[in-house]
This record gives sequence, C-alpha cells and structure tokens, in this order.
Amino acid sequence: MRVLSGIQPSGRLHLGNYLGAMRQHIELQEAHEGFYFIANYHSLTTVQDAATLRRWTMDVALDYLALGLDPDRVALFRQSDIPEVTELTWLLSTVTGKGLLERATSYKDKVARGLPSSMGLFSYPLLMAADILIYRSDLVPVGKDQVQHIEMTQDMAGYFNTTFGREVFKRPEPKLNEALIVPGVDGQKMSKSYGNAIDLFDTPKRTRKRIMSIKTDSTPVEDPKSPDRCNVFALYKLMATPEEVKTLDRRYREGGMGYGEAKERLFEVVERVLGPARERREKLVADPGYVEDILAAGAAKAGAVAREVMADARDACGIVIMKGSQR
Ligand code: TRP
Repeated sequence: MRVLSGIQPSGRLHLGNYLGAMRQHIELQEAHEGFYFIANYHSLTTVQDAATLRRWTMDVALDYLALGLDPDRVALFRQSDIPEVTELTWLLSTVTGKGLLERATSYKDKVARGLPSSMGLFSYPLLMAADILIYRSDLVPVGKDQVQHIEMTQDMAGYFNTTFGREVFKRPEPKLNEALIVPGVDGQKMSKSYGNAIDLFDTPKRTRKRIMSIKTDSTPVEDPKSPDRCNVFALYKLMATPEEVKTLDRRYREGGMGYGEAKERLFEVVERVLGPARERREKLVADPGYVEDILAAGAAKAGAVAREVMADARDACGIVIMKGSQR
C-alpha cells in the first residue's frame, strides 16, 4: 500500500505536530511504501514572505529526518519539485463544482479567522486532491480536520473518471490518527496559533521551562490527584511506556507527589525522544548537501509516478503536448 501525506511548512513544528501526525508517519514507514512531501504550494496561501517560506520548507525536511524518517524507505520531497501537481489541479478544477469547494469547513474557518479569501485558499482542496491522486495513493494519514478534504478528493477522482470514462484515478482512504487531542500548556488543543505549544527543537532548558509552565489545579502535594483530568499526565501518556504510565498513575492516586515532580517525569520522557533527535538535527544542519540529495532522490521517485499518471490523465481528456516532451 502506498501511504502519502503532506506537511505544510508554515511554522516551527511542535509536540502536537509530532504526536498528532509525524510519529504516525514515521511508524507507517515500516509496513508501507511512504510518500511524504513538504506542501510549500499550500503554505503560500498563508506564508507570503520568500525567506520565511524557504527556511520553513527546509525545517520540515530537517525535523522529519531528525525524528527518524528513513530516507531509504520513504520518498521525502518538496511539492514544488513535481510541477505536474499544479497541472493536475487545473484538470480537476474543470470537473469540480464550485459548490463542493464552498462547503469546505477548513476554508470557511480560515476566512472566519480573518484570512483573505484568495482563489488559492479557495482552491486549496483541489491542489490537495491533485497531491493525493497523482501518486495513486492508497492511504492518507491525516488529522480529523483534513478528513473532509480526503472525501472531496474521492469525489473529484470520481467526477474525472466518470466524465472521461476511464479509471485514471484510484480512490484514496483517510487514515485517522488515534492520538487525537494533544493538549498544550494551557489545556486547550496544542496549536501554534493558540500560543500554547511546546516546540520540538528548542534548547533542553527552554523545553523544561515550558513543561514546568503547564497548567495544573491546586491540589496540595500530600493529597491524591486525578491523572485523568491532568494535562501533564495526558502528555505523559502519549510518550511514556505502558509500565511508566501505570507507575505514574498510581503515584497520582496515592498522594504525596506534587505536580512539579510529575512535570519532571514528563520532561524526562520528552527528552528521551527529543534529545537524540536534536543531535541528529544539528548534524543535518551542518550538511545541507546531504539533505538536498535526499529531497532530490525523493522527487525522482515521486516524479516517475506523477509523470505516468499525468500522461494518462491528459490522454483521457484529450490534452495534447509536444511529442518527446520531458513531462
Ligand atoms: N492540508 C494538509 C494539512 O494542512 C496538508 C496537505 C497538503 C496534505 N496536501 C496534502 C495532507 C495531501 C495529506 C495529503 O495538514
């Protein structure tokens, strides 16, 4: 099965991104063929500063590789290295009703939050459908907020296949991550825009300070505490081994342990993952040529599939290009 997902380079990644998406992507590389790309065309709908977009694009590559994405198993590439994807976006737009896009809740939310409703923002699901369909993806691991986009992709594949009477596109399925809610330091869903995130690649000192700032109730140290209502415990549960979780659960219920100590335990399990990743990331930063080579190899692999599918799509709808064209 081919697993595909895209990650927007729209800011520094945090623990919520890791637990909610990246960790699953990395785990899936064991059993499936992975295609993971940096969705820089998508980010352009919100990030409109060249230097920033360039930096964040590279950051996504560095973060994924540092956290354990294996470039020998997975094709990691930039969306913009496969120009066919924008070409396919156009073909899909000609068979997709405007009404479908008007129903996209993610678009409506973004506009409600004050983003200018550019055509790019409106067409976002078309580009996303092209991303998915052009690689004949089977499974698309995403968060809950993206499921509607996958359903729209299924619809668009159907419109195209029916209109042109050929099964050019395969129907993809969404794969929901179980770690649905990752709380931030204030207990709300962790999100860059809420200012409650724990960054992935901060210094250990700042990471510790951030963890120490997680909001807890004011139960005194001696008293028993409820792990189920505690943000520290919720994060711990997402990162510790089952035995560690059991032990900390017991200590909460027994009383005699303060939240400060629970936070220390959380910091330890966070550092167990982030410590080695931070070191790997520093090595990667020092070797940009190596990272570029990985992205180029990923693009070569993805591009081969994209060119084949695109040729089939053009042929199905009667779009002719020069003979011998590299596309
Ligand atoms: N829209 C996705 C997000 O914001 C990113 C994305 C772009 C994507 N293209 C994709 C995800 C294709 C899965 C498949 O998270």
